[in-house]
Formats: sequence, structure tokens, C-alpha cells
Amino acid sequence: MTQAISDSPLSALLGRSSTGDLIAPAPEGDVLMRILSAGLCAPDHGHLCPWRYIVITGAERPAFAAHVVEAVARQEPDAPEKKREKRRTRFSETPMIIALGMHIRPKHKVPVIEQEMAVAAGAMNVLNALHMEGFGGVWISGAFCEDRPLLRHLGLKKPHRLAGFLLVGTPEKPGKLHKRPDIADYMAIWEAEHPVTFRADEESH
Ligand SMILES: Cc1cc2nc3c(=O)[nH]c(=O)nc-3n(C[C@H](O)[C@H](O)[C@H](O)COP(=O)(O)O)c2cc1C
Repeated sequence: MTQAISDSPLSALLGRSSTGDLIAPAPEGDVLMRILSAGLCAPDHGHLCPWRYIVITGAERPAFAAHVVEAVARQEPDAPEKKREKRRTRFSETPMIIALGMHIRPKHKVPVIEQEMAVAAGAMNVLNALHMEGFGGVWISGAFCEDRPLLRHLGLKKPHRLAGFLLVGTPEKPGKLHKRPDIADYMAIWEAEHPVTFRADEESH
């Protein structure tokens, strides 16, 4: 049984790391719907709802993995066989894959980049929600994500696109955290008299 993270919500956010080492179970039923609903809480200029979540799981995975392998072959014809087979294994064996569809309106007054950022913000909410419910995941991408035939299998016709995939399941090694940068390097308090500088950008850094 997957355990939800019971600490404070901020501790949960600070304790999230991506991982592709995922085992069953993946979320299902109402839990999955609530996790995906977190994506819909993201900021969304113009309320365009540009996100489209396509869930690939169970016995459907090998067929989708075959489409991914074909897309990799089309987009990266020089990629070694090993790379194609790695993609096949990941897409066939990861408990759940969530394709991050972007329903883009190129002529809308809300710029396309803002529509894309809403999808990205939604994806981050989904990753955080997964973590808070005791699951895990990683956001992956690659040239194959621009492959039109692959996108058509996901119901994404031009001008709609893909922001990548979330690989989803239960972390094989829970609690393994990536080292994070020091926030003091990446923040500044603005003062009228001085231009803002960041420690991260200092030459000695
Ligand atoms: C749009 C996007 C695409 C990404 N694509 C890949 C990818 O293809 N392969 C990969 O290993 N990491 C990729 N990453 C990075 C991982 O999702 C993740 O951030 C990284 O493993 C660091 O883990 P962390 O989230 O715990 O910091 C991508 C991140 C973003 C935002």
C-alpha cells in the first residue's frame, strides 16, 4: 500500500525528487483523477485549459512503446539500437506514462509561450501531487516528442504539441533526494539604489 507523505505540505514540496526507477503501483481510480486535477489548478492565462493528459498503462504500454521506437528512428536515424531499445523498455515497463499534450491556440491573444507555460506549471503540479500521495515520477522529453505520427497516435493534431512525458509509478528507493542548489545564490531583495545581482552569477562562484 502506497503511503501518502504526512509531513507539512511545504516539507513535502522540499522533499520531492524525480526518479525513473519506478515500480508498481501507479495511481488509479479516484486517486489518479485527484492527482491529475492538481494539474488543472495551475495558473492559466485566459483560462484556455491547454493541458491534455493522455494516460498509458497496463497492457497498452508495449504498443505505445513500439510507436515511440518508430518515432525515435524517424527523428534520430543515427541513434544507436541500444538507445531505441532503452526507450522501448522504459515505455513498456514503467507502470504508467502520462503524455503531456499541449492544446495550443496560435492566433489567441494569449501568447503561445504562456499557453506552454501553463501546461508546464500543470505538469509540475502533477509531479508534486504524485509525490504527496506517495508515488513518484520523472518528466522526460526528446526529439521524438516532436514526431507528428507519434503525436497523431495521442490525438494531437497540428498545431497541438507535446511537452514530454511523465513516467509514473512508485519510487523503487523512496526518500532518495537530489542535492539542491542553495537558495541564497538564486534570490535577491530588490533595493531602489542598487541593481540586483545574484551570488550564482558572481565570477568566484
Ligand atoms: C521539459 C523537461 C524535459 C526534461 N527531459 C528530460 C529527459 O529527457 N531526460 C532526463 O533525464 N531528464 C529530463 N528532464 C529533467 C528531469 O525531469 C528532472 O528534472 C531531473 O532528473 C532532475 O530531477 P529533480 O526533478 O529531482 O531535480 C526534463 C525536465 C523538463 C522540465
